Amino acid sequence: MNIQWYPGHMKKTRDALQKNLKLVDVVFELLDSRIPNSSKNPQIDEIVGNKPRVVILNKCDLSSEKENNKWVNYYKEKNISAILVNAASGKGTKQIINEANIAMKEKIERLKKKGIMNRPIKAMIVGIPNVGKSTLINSLAGRKGAKTGNRPGVTKGNQWIKLRGNLELLDTPGILWPKFEDKQVGFNLAFTGAIRDEIMDTETLALRLIERLLILDPKLLIQRYNVDTEGLTGIEVMDSIAVKRGCIVKRGEIDYARVAHLVLDEFRRGKIGRITLETPEYMI
Ligand code: G4P
Repeated sequence: MNIQWYPGHMKKTRDALQKNLKLVDVVFELLDSRIPNSSKNPQIDEIVGNKPRVVILNKCDLSSEKENNKWVNYYKEKNISAILVNAASGKGTKQIINEANIAMKEKIERLKKKGIMNRPIKAMIVGIPNVGKSTLINSLAGRKGAKTGNRPGVTKGNQWIKLRGNLELLDTPGILWPKFEDKQVGFNLAFTGAIRDEIMDTETLALRLIERLLILDPKLLIQRYNVDTEGLTGIEVMDSIAVKRGCIVKRGEIDYARVAHLVLDEFRRGKIGRITLETPEYMI
């Protein structure tokens, strides 16, 4: 999905989301655990307001385990519950329901005092494109594939999915725009595929990714591509990868388009290894 975020479109999106927010008690804020800062909407606090919120660090199968734990602690210190989830496999989804109940404890108590028992707790998922919202809804609903809202025969209007623990989930996710305020954020979004390659030149993007990996964890490149990295620049490593993988055109020249595509694709699919591009230290 490629969305162009013009100011008018952002306003429309925000208005639509705010309507749905009125219907729910708790918000699940979905982030990409490889880039928890870059995948966060810049106005999320303002948009969600005082509603209880659970942060979901999705795609935790693709991010570093050590950094995942650091991010959970980072949120804990801020009194926000954060959960590591792999929406594609369903890992962590039970915990979402438990955390929602914990976040709603006070409201449930208040309702009980008024004699209102077993009123379902309503929740919705919000996040930027490609962060895994549809996958998570399908996983929580226990169904496979079908995109929410795209199925024939489904009545228009909001649908609620009944989950364990007296929780009901809105079948339509809230789509938010990402931050574009700094160049590094733009790169992070492009590395992970959250914004489309056409926005940025693929060869430059792959080179920037290799340069980042050389700083963060060069052994991932060494192991995946069987190349040397010691004392080499990003472009030299890119050339070595191209040679190892046969990305060569006639007369022995490097096929940069092919090697760029290969590196980006393997990174996005986790083939290069589990890596987090933003650590919580970066936030301080
Ligand atoms: P969205 O609604 O927020 O836009 O995102 P969506 O669910 O469409 O997911 C975007 C991509 O991320 C999908 O891959 C999906 O399979 C993948 N994804 C979602 N959650 C996880 C996760 O926890 N781990 C991993 N590894 N991937 C996840 P795709 O390539 O666009 O499609 P496909 O591979 O499902 O065909």
